[in-house]
Amino acid sequence: MFKLTGALCLIFGFALLASEPAMVEPKFTAGNELVRPTGYHEWIFLGSSLGMGYQRSGGSNDEPTFHNVYTQPEAYRAYLKTGKFPDKTIMILELMTAGANASINKQGHFEDRLIGIEASVKDVNRFPEKWAYFNFIGNDRKPLVQSKAFAKQTCWSCHDEHAAVDNVFEQFYPVLREAKQKQ
Ligand code: HEC
Repeated sequence: MFKLTGALCLIFGFALLASEPAMVEPKFTAGNELVRPTGYHEWIFLGSSLGMGYQRSGGSNDEPTFHNVYTQPEAYRAYLKTGKFPDKTIMILELMTAGANASINKQGHFEDRLIGIEASVKDVNRFPEKWAYFNFIGNDRKPLVQSKAFAKQTCWSCHDEHAAVDNVFEQFYPVLREAKQKQ
């Protein structure tokens, strides 16, 4: 009887494990271009910033933009446990214009139009610097299907030098700061 219950538990346990959705992994084309990740609005929202001033194309402080950052739930949970981002972590940075004077809004800003989608990917076997950086909005402002990694000095260097944890700007994301305190 015990044996049977034990076996059933095992089978049930495996079934549960099998039904856990696996972490969404970055997809690459044969030419090493990253396919634009989708569905990230269902991932973990790490935080938002408004009009941050570091030199980068596409933003001036006269027209501040919101930056929204997302990562896979599994990457977040691994960070919570270990303080490290696992291999195949994807970070998405969405840039939104700051709207004003619409509907009942009389002061302050709301997120209006999507003007940028950028991504970073940690893939230790694919990239010598572990992380690589991508842009997914073309010159015509339409989303790109796939994109090739930027040169090291365009994105990686600043992240490597200034980001608090493993190339990620943890210092600006309340959700990760909170996770760090629990570690
Ligand atoms: C001069 C410094 C600098 C450069 C260069 C830079 N970034 Fe960042 N990046 C930041 C900062 C600061 C943040 C966090 C704050 C924010 O923007 O909301 C950030 C955040 C990000 C994030 C969110 C995840 C993370 O790592 O914190 C992505 C994705 C990203 N940048 C992509 C890019 C891409 C793609 C490029 C190159 C086209 C680039 N960055 C170049 C400073 C930089």
